[in-house]
Amino acid sequence: MSQWATRCVVLLSALALATQVFHLLRGDFVHPSRRHSEQPVAPQDPPLPEAVRNKVIGLVVSQKQPSLANNLLQLSTNTHFNARSVRISRDPAAAKTDSVNSRRFSHFRCVGDDNNPEGRRERICVFENVCYDTTNSQWTYHVRGNSSRKPVLFDATNGERLEFYESRQDYQVGFVALSGFTEGSTDWWPTISTSPSPAVQSPESTVVLDSLHALFHLAVHDDNLGHLLWEEMAALWYGMIRLNAFSDELVPMHMLGSLPDRKLNVKFRTAFMPAITPKDPVSFNDYMKKTVAKQRAATHVCFDQLMAGGNMLRFFQSHGWHNQGHEPLFYSLRNRILKHHGIDPEVVPKTHRIVFTNKTETLKKNIDGGLAKNRGIANLRELVQHVQTKYPDVDVQVVEWQKLSIKKQLDLMHSTTIFITPSGGVSTLLPFLPEGGHAIILDYFERKGEAYYGTQAGTSVSMEAPMWNHFPFIKKLYYQVWGSQDFVSDIPGKSVEDVDWRYEASVKVDFERMDKLIEAAFEDMEP
Ligand SMILES: *[C@@H]1O[C@H](CO)[C@@H](O)[C@H](O)[C@H]1NC(C)=O
Ligand SMILES: *[C@@H]1O[C@H](CO)[C@@H](O)[C@H](O)[C@H]1NC(C)=O
Repeated sequence: MSQWATRCVVLLSALALATQVFHLLRGDFVHPSRRHSEQPVAPQDPPLPEAVRNKVIGLVVSQKQPSLANNLLQLSTNTHFNARSVRISRDPAAAKTDSVNSRRFSHFRCVGDDNNPEGRRERICVFENVCYDTTNSQWTYHVRGNSSRKPVLFDATNGERLEFYESRQDYQVGFVALSGFTEGSTDWWPTISTSPSPAVQSPESTVVLDSLHALFHLAVHDDNLGHLLWEEMAALWYGMIRLNAFSDELVPMHMLGSLPDRKLNVKFRTAFMPAITPKDPVSFNDYMKKTVAKQRAATHVCFDQLMAGGNMLRFFQSHGWHNQGHEPLFYSLRNRILKHHGIDPEVVPKTHRIVFTNKTETLKKNIDGGLAKNRGIANLRELVQHVQTKYPDVDVQVVEWQKLSIKKQLDLMHSTTIFITPSGGVSTLLPFLPEGGHAIILDYFERKGEAYYGTQAGTSVSMEAPMWNHFPFIKKLYYQVWGSQDFVSDIPGKSVEDVDWRYEASVKVDFERMDKLIEAAFEDMEP
C-alpha cells in the first residue's frame, strides 16, 4: 500500500520536473523570482476564473477599515481616570460640592501581579495625586491619618503589605522597576504620608501638574535600537494603552540621571519619541527645578496622574512571555512611527527589492572601550554577487544603516520585500518592512546554554525571535547554524573554537541554504 503511494508521489514529482524542463527547453520558463506581484498567476497554477478573481480583489478593498490602533486609542484620549471612574463621597453634603478629583488623597491602579512583591519587574501603575518634595527629593502618597492603613499588595506568602517598598537584608525592593535591565537599583516607590496632599494643605508652595506624566529610564548604554526603541522608549506607549491612560500630552520624565547626550541616543530619541508623544522628554531634576521656579516659594510638585514601571526585557528567550497579547501595541506604534515620517503604513511595494545589512564597519568600532563586536556575514560580498546573478531583475542593495538618516532608513525598509540581516540591534528595523514583507535573519549557535538569555545548549538560537514572534505582519525566516563550520572568528589571532559565538563570530553563509529561504520568501509573496 505505502509502496504504491511512494511510487505515485515519485511519478508525480517526475512529471512536474519534466514539465519544468520542457518549459526550460522551450525558453518560456519564468523563474519564480522574476514574477512580480502584479503579474498574472504562475504558469503551472490553474488561472482563477475572471469573475472569481475580481470578487477576491474586490473583497480585500471593501474590507478596508480604520486601523486597530485608532480604535484602541479612542478608549481614553486625555480623559483622566478620576473623571471617568467611581468617585462618590460618603458625606452627601460634600458630594454636592466635590469635584471628581479633590486632590486631597492619592490613588493608584496597576497591571501586574498583585500577589507577589517580585511582580515589580513587570508591574506598571498610574498614581493619582502623588507629590514630589523638591527639598528632600521624596515622593509621597497621601492617605487619611484617622483611618487604619490599607493594603497595597496581597503577598501570597507573607500577607498584606501596607507600604510600597519592602526592606530586604541590604537593599529595598520597590513597587515598580524603571528598567528591565538591573535588579533592585532602578526600583521606584512613593512613601506613604498620613496627611492630605500639599496640593490642598499648602497650595501656595505647591505646583500641580494635571496632564499625564511618566517616569522612565534609558539603561542601554550602547543605544542598541532594539532595546532602546522597542523596550525602553516604547514602554511609555504600551503603558498608556495597557492602563487605559492614553494621553496625547504625555510628558516623559527621565529619572536616575539626565537624558543621555550620546549622539546615537539623541538621534534615535529625536526620530522615535515624537510618535509616542508630542511633548519632548525631559530630565526629571531639571524639570522639577524649572517647574518650582515658576511659582515663588514652591517646594512641592503634585501630579494628577503619574505613570511608572513597565519597562521590561522583551528580546531574551527567558522574557518572551512579556510579549503575549502585546501584538496590537507593537503594530500600532510601528504605524505611528511610519506616519510620523510621512510614510503610509498601508502602502506596499509593487516590485521586489532585496536589502542586505552590511556590518563591516562596526567590527572596527570599540564600544565603551570593550571588545570589538561584529556578528556579521563573513562572505557578504560573495553572497551579494551570488544573489545578484541569480535574480538579475531584482533590485539588490547592500546597506550600512548607520550612514543613513532615520527617515531614509524607514523609506528604504518600507519599500523592501526581502531583508537579509545578521541578528542583533541592526535587525530591529524589520517591523518597518511593508506588511507581508520577509526578513531572513541569521542565527547563532549556543554551545553551552545561558540562563541569563534563556538559551539551551546545542540549539540554533534566533536571537530576537521571542519578540518577532509577536509581529505577525512580517514573515520571519531564520537561517539556522549548526556548528563551527558555519562561523568565522571576528577576533584576530583567535580560532573560531576559542571565541564566543554570540558576540565574536560572523556567519559564513552557505548559498544553497540561503537560496532556499529566498525562494520561500518569493513563493510566499506570490499572488
Ligand atoms: C477623617 O478625617 C477626614 C478629614 O481629613 C474627615 O472628613 C473624616 O470624617 C474623618 N473620618 C473619621 C472616620 O473620623
Ligand atoms: C560593506 O561596507 C564596507 C565599509 O564601508 C565596504 O568597504 C564594503 O565594500 C561593503 N560591502 C559590500 C558587499 O557592499
